[in-house]
Amino acid sequence: MIQGIGLDIVELERVARLDKRNSKFRERILSSSELQIYEKMSGHRKTEYLAGRFAAKEAFSKARGTGIGQDCGFLDIEVIAEPSGRPALYFRRQPVKGFISITHTQTVAAAQVILMED
Ligand SMILES: CC(C)(COP(=O)(O)OP(=O)(O)OC[C@H]1O[C@@H](n2cnc3c(N)ncnc32)[C@H](O)[C@@H]1OP(=O)(O)O)[C@@H](O)C(=O)NCCC(=O)NCCS
Repeated sequence: MIQGIGLDIVELERVARLDKRNSKFRERILSSSELQIYEKMSGHRKTEYLAGRFAAKEAFSKARGTGIGQDCGFLDIEVIAEPSGRPALYFRRQPVKGFISITHTQTVAAAQVILMED
């Protein structure tokens, strides 16, 4: 049974601006594994990746019904790609029973999360 759904969309220009201003922004959003992946990317792909993870984590928090806060921080959530490229969700290092999809265009990134009952 579906337990919750969440959707989020983020403007790339806003994320690029915040990321350029201070590296603390990406450190607040990305886990250490995600940061390592980000550091290997170049230019626009970095912004896409960061914005996609930001949207994914907000979408996950909405699917849980908590939003981002004490119960569910950005760093509690990890989105790691399988070898095929398909993203998979982890919460506090445990695999999450659910589904995630991320997309980007020239201007925005968006993500959808569906959580299943355990
Ligand atoms: C829920 C959350 C993710 C909303 O994100 P947001 O980007 O402010 O707002 P969005 O436009 O994406 O989403 C708003 C909608 O989320 C939904 N929502 C709000 N709280 C929710 C919750 N606990 N569970 C599920 N959905 C929720 C509502 O439907 C809301 O729209 P409405 O008020 O018109 O009904 C919230 O926890 C949040 O504000 N996170 C931001 C955390 C942060 O630190 N951001 C700054 C980084 S620089």
